[in-house]
Formats: sequence, C-alpha cells, structure tokens
Amino acid sequence: MQTEYIQANENNLTGVAQKAGCVLQNGGIVAIPTETVYGLAANALNGEAVKKIFAAKGRPQDNPLIVHITEFSEVHGLVSEVPDSAKALAEKYWPGPLTIIMPKSEKIPDEVSAGLDTVAIRMPAHPVARAIIKAAGVPLAAPSANISGRPSPTRAKYVYEDMNGKIDMIIDGGQSAVGVESTVITLAVNPPRLLRPGGITVEQLRAVLGAVEVDDAVMHKLKEEAKAASPGMKYKHYAPKAEITVIKGGLDAFRQYVARRPESFALCFEGEEAFFENAVTYGRADDANSQANRLFDALRELDEKGAKIVFARDPGTSGVDLAVYNRLIRAAAFRVVTL
Ligand code: TXA
Ligand code: MG
Repeated sequence: MQTEYIQANENNLTGVAQKAGCVLQNGGIVAIPTETVYGLAANALNGEAVKKIFAAKGRPQDNPLIVHITEFSEVHGLVSEVPDSAKALAEKYWPGPLTIIMPKSEKIPDEVSAGLDTVAIRMPAHPVARAIIKAAGVPLAAPSANISGRPSPTRAKYVYEDMNGKIDMIIDGGQSAVGVESTVITLAVNPPRLLRPGGITVEQLRAVLGAVEVDDAVMHKLKEEAKAASPGMKYKHYAPKAEITVIKGGLDAFRQYVARRPESFALCFEGEEAFFENAVTYGRADDANSQANRLFDALRELDEKGAKIVFARDPGTSGVDLAVYNRLIRAAAFRVVTL
C-alpha cells in the first residue's frame, strides 16, 4: 500500500483535514497527531475499518481502542448512560490528555470494545486532531500509532518508521507536547479506578471525584493468572531493543554503578550526560513534564545508537512522574535495582 505523507500547518489545515476526513469516511486509516502521542485513526462506528488498525499494528484482538470526539454531546450516543462524574471530569480536563471509560451503547462495534461492555472516550486538544475528527464527521477509534510493543510515537517520523506501506496516510503535526499516552480512568466501577497514569494526575482526578483507586497494574507487574482491568496493561510494552534496568538511588551511586559496566548507556537527566561515556537524556531531574515529553523519544534514540545495555535514572512517582515511571518500568520489563 502507498502511504501518503502530509505536513499540516496553520495555512493548509482545512484542506489537509478534509483530505484525511475523506479517507476516514471511506473506511481508510490515517495516523494523526495528538497532544499525547500520535494515533492511528479509523471511523469508530465502522467495524471493518477498525479491523485494519489491528492488522497494521499487529495488535492483539482482545485489546480495546479509545474513541476520540470533539464535543461532549457526542458522548450521549456512545454510552448507555452518562454519569455525573463524567460531566464533572470533562468540565475540568477536556479537551486534554484524559480518557474516561463508561458502559457502552449498542453503537460501539465489538472491534472497538474488544467484546467488553464498556467504551473508552477521549476529547483531544490538538488542533490538527480536532480538525480531522470534525472533517470526518464521525468519532475516531485510535490507538497509539506504533507497532504493538514498540514505544508510542511522539513524532511523525517514528510513525513513518513503523507504519509506512501499511496505512493510507500520515499527517505530520509536529512533536507531541505531553509525550506519554492519556490518563485512563474507569467510571464503570465504584470508586472510580485509575487504569493508566498520564498527563492528568491522580491528584487532579481526586480533586474532582474524591476517592480514586489506583489499579495494581499501574506500578507492578501483573501475575500471569491475574485478569487485567485494562487489557493493554498485560502486554509487553514500550520495549526498545536494548535491555533497560531502572536504578533507584542518588546520582553518585548511579555514576559508580554505570562506570563498572563500560559498554552500557546511561538514560539520565539533562546536565548529567557529561558523566557518562554513552548517554541519552530524558528531561530535567526536577521537571516531570519534561521527562514525559522526552521519554519515548529517548527510547527510540537508544535504539538508533545501538545501545544494548541501558541503566535508567529513577523518575520517582509523584504527579506526572507516575506516568513516566509506569512507562519506564514496562520498557525495562520491570527490572529495578535499588542501590
Ligand atoms: O493518549 C492516548 O490515549 C493515545 C492517543 C492516540 O489518543 N491513544 C492510546 O491508545 O494510547 P492505546 O490503544 O495505545 O491505549 C489504550 C489503552 C489500552 O491499554 C487499552 O487496553 C485501554 O486503554 N482501554 C481501551 N478501552 C478500554 C476499556 N473499555 N476498558 C479498559 N481498558 C480500555
Ligand atoms: Mg499503545
């Protein structure tokens, strides 16, 4: 398949959105920029179109997709009932990096919900994503636009690496600002439960909802027999080719640890790279947003540099760092060393 690559900017946005919208209306699949990561979009109400996403990604059939909208009123048709808590969350954090899971309506095809009785909905803030959803005139199902198991793409060039020849179109809208996928919360259980941390923090969710539980899979490896509340959490994820280990401890101990392994790479914070023979940085030590923004890029850079063994500085787990830690320990296959 020929994949068309189009750069979107302020001047050509209307035309580009119309072109992409047309492909989507005809059952095609298009990679689109969002503020979290790039998504691989299809008409969410067309099961046959949605199947093409699974084929292009090599995604397991039992992993459901997020449905993207631009107006809150669209939620009513997609769910069986709109909880007041969803309205309160949307009021505060939509459009933005937050996905809300609710009991689904009959309009949602099984391909989207993967047979579950719930549906995940998000309203992205990125102007290009919004223009394309509007032009398509339908809600768009979109997982991250990577091959399953690879780091999510924060730039169109990474989408191209994974998807060229497999999809109809790639829309380049620049680098994703947040850099990790949206926060996922389910309102289908009581109290609401955080399934995936992201740019909207658990503290921000609690400010609106009161009690919010954090699913075990956020911080820990699921036991083989445990059933995942969010199917995506049980799969190997974000894996670069290198073997990564997260090192807990201060910078001095980290430096000594890395120095004893000469062929290794340090995945460290900005300003620390001079201490190591091989280093890739992921943000500033005191700035969780900058770490989220850089993490997936850094994982892909390690691959480009041919890194085989990588030791990563520990981001911590408060605020947005919970999202960074959640991705990093999966990229590290849960290898953590405490010094
Ligand atoms: O930021 C994002 O959310 C990006 C952009 C493109 O919007 N999308 C994204 O989609 O990260 P994906 O498919 O890579 O991750 C969706 C996650 C998966 O872990 C999936 O299992 C979970 O959400 N999920 C989707 N629907 C669900 C449902 N009904 N119940 C539980 N988990 C669900
Ligand atoms: Mg994904």
